[in-house]
Amino acid sequence: EMLEKGGYDHFMLKEIYEQPRSIGDCMRGRIYPLEGKVKLGGIKEYTEKFKNAHRIIIVACGTSWHAGLVGEYLIEEYARIPVEVEYASEFRYRNPIITENDIVIAISQSGETADTMAAIEMAKAKGATIFGICNVVGSSIPRLSDAGIYTHAGPEIGVASTKAFTAQVTALTLMAFYMAEKKGTIAQTKLIALLSELERIPSLVERALQSDGLIREISEKFKDSRNALFLGRGSGFPVALEGALKLKEISYIHAEGYPAAEMKHGPIALIDEQMPVIVIATKNSSYEKVISNIQEVKARKGVVIAIVTEGDTEVVRMADYSIEIPSADEAFLPLLATIPLQLLSYHIAVLRGCNVDQPRNLAKSVTVE
Ligand code: G6P
Repeated sequence: EMLEKGGYDHFMLKEIYEQPRSIGDCMRGRIYPLEGKVKLGGIKEYTEKFKNAHRIIIVACGTSWHAGLVGEYLIEEYARIPVEVEYASEFRYRNPIITENDIVIAISQSGETADTMAAIEMAKAKGATIFGICNVVGSSIPRLSDAGIYTHAGPEIGVASTKAFTAQVTALTLMAFYMAEKKGTIAQTKLIALLSELERIPSLVERALQSDGLIREISEKFKDSRNALFLGRGSGFPVALEGALKLKEISYIHAEGYPAAEMKHGPIALIDEQMPVIVIATKNSSYEKVISNIQEVKARKGVVIAIVTEGDTEVVRMADYSIEIPSADEAFLPLLATIPLQLLSYHIAVLRGCNVDQPRNLAKSVTVE
């Protein structure tokens, strides 16, 4: 087993460190920065369908649902198609309005999640086109789908999803750019710039991983926390949700992810000198707004761990702890900001003596409803 873990203490850590490669594998052969083109064999036949779609409905569970929320942000931003993101388990038991002009994207690492499969079957019966984004080749969901793309992250053993999540986000980023190009909702020069940067994301992820030592030190301070709050805005919000999920899954610390501005409608009441507030505070369109949110936390003597852009000084001055990630276009924020949050939950869980790879009560693939 040690051999399978490639020298890492846990599969989860190995998989976190594999991300420069798995993200690279997901986009290999699919992006052509010089031409400003994305090629997705799996989507090709359905290009017209996507172009004319009235709406995209994303269905998924768990971490895959968080990837879906990032997808919503990216597809609406670049391809200007309305997107809804649904928990498969809720969607299947409603009487949702679905037409033949809708596309349902099912996201699943395993391709075997029972609720996601049932949601697909229902949408199919109502005439929607089903598009799968899965990791396990030949699994049930790709077989149930009309078309789709594989994430190519490689086998994920740790129950808490890490590299599968960033691969799903990469696949959705490719889809958003693909549809944007086909629909003409993005300028060619902008797309060329984005694709050139996307090509460099694996090396930026590599750089983000270099904060591991610092994150371990920070984890020592918070290993006995009973609660944690994760805040983000825009596409940083699903990243906050995913950070909170990771922490609760493997360390059993109660954690919540919130849109930073919603904090004042509830979670602010919980802030004290003990509870860590992890804030995605990178330099993007919501930077100034997030700074005010950090001030609100500090005014209540909260402890702030900020995820900041390399070279930032303003947030660093206000926060109790800062973890840098490389600077990149806002489109790629979820891919980079997720890395330190994975490492934070990993180290906290290890320090608490938890079974990181197989947390209690959780399963890698939930094949019953
Ligand atoms: C389980 C796993 C999660 C995963 C979720 C959805 O809860 O523990 O890591 O995100 O199922 O699984 P899927 O295979 O459909 O992505």
